[in-house]
Amino acid sequence: MRVGIFESRDTTLAHGAAHDAAAVSAVGDESRAIRETCRALGWTPIDVEAAVDPLRTLQDLRDARPDVVFQLAESIGGEARFEAAAAWLLEWARIPYTGSGPIALTLALEKPRTRAVLTAAGVATPIGFVVEQADEALPAVFATRRAGEAWIVKPTREDASHGIALESVVRSEKALRERAAYVIETYRQPALVEEFVEGREFNVSLIDDSEGTTALPIAEIDYSQFPSDAPRLVTFAAKWDPSSAEYQGSTPIAADDLPTTVARSVRHVALAAYRAIGLAGYGRIDLRLHPTRGPLVLDVNPNPDISPDAGLARAAARGGLRYEELIARIVRDAQRRAHKTA
Ligand SMILES: Nc1ncnc2c1ncn2[C@@H]1O[C@H](COP(=O)(O)OP(=O)(O)O)[C@@H](O)[C@H]1O
Ligand SMILES: [Mg+2]
Repeated sequence: MRVGIFESRDTTLAHGAAHDAAAVSAVGDESRAIRETCRALGWTPIDVEAAVDPLRTLQDLRDARPDVVFQLAESIGGEARFEAAAAWLLEWARIPYTGSGPIALTLALEKPRTRAVLTAAGVATPIGFVVEQADEALPAVFATRRAGEAWIVKPTREDASHGIALESVVRSEKALRERAAYVIETYRQPALVEEFVEGREFNVSLIDDSEGTTALPIAEIDYSQFPSDAPRLVTFAAKWDPSSAEYQGSTPIAADDLPTTVARSVRHVALAAYRAIGLAGYGRIDLRLHPTRGPLVLDVNPNPDISPDAGLARAAARGGLRYEELIARIVRDAQRRAHKTA
């Protein structure tokens, strides 16, 4: 079987702060592992670049003649929203591909729309609102919380913790507006303001097979070693800079000690979010546990990092699924879906 390894060779991002590029170079490790795994499974991996010129990409896909494409293009020409365009291109060319379709990819990249769809589906999210201009009037919901309670200000259309820092957590209207101005200016997009939920943070990885969607064992961010005077959250440094105190103080661990009822509700909410946004193949949902409202969905991640040392593969291993089996399952799911729509 010929498996197209489809990725962009982006080395820069279209916008953002200079340090954001650290996240781009990580993609190479992922495709290397998948290429090797395909060979181990007796398949033939063929590299295809998701190039800036769509005609060239289409021609390269034709020349490669893949039976299925492993979709690893997270951006094209530095534009994250073209990840969905790549999925449309594959749909259009009628080539089966792994992971989520273009609609889910587009939705998940727009946090406010994701929140709206989740809310309509009855999936709880933190209280929040969008700020388009730093000096605009804040909506009534801002006043529903007491003065001094923490908010988080994040970009509406980024992922991988781009634009998330300790300074994202604010406790005054002035600080909120300052951070919103920074986000709007640096990332060229509106800011999403959410109540800062300080409870335990979970990642639930999910995968599809012929039986439907399964939630893998829950992971938790262990913040016990986090700088004690700082708000606890997965900042950009926590994700990408191993030398930082934030990285060393935010360790993903197995959430084995959760009471059964809590674990069940975390999995249930994650599965509902996965379905509401229409993810396919594999995905990861980030949640935090609110003391009275239960698990709240922070982030829906279609096509999350699938490297052997990333969260999804680790959760799969804990669920008894070796890396090779995981990759094979994701590829089989792509083929199954292609047959259904053909
Ligand atoms: N409303 C919130 N309350 C508490 N922590 C949050 C909230 N939103 C985000 N965070 C923290 O910021 C991190 C990154 O936010 P997230 O929305 O997942 O962005 P990204 O899409 O960049 O992963 C989360 O893992 C969490 O630690
Ligand atoms: Mg996230």
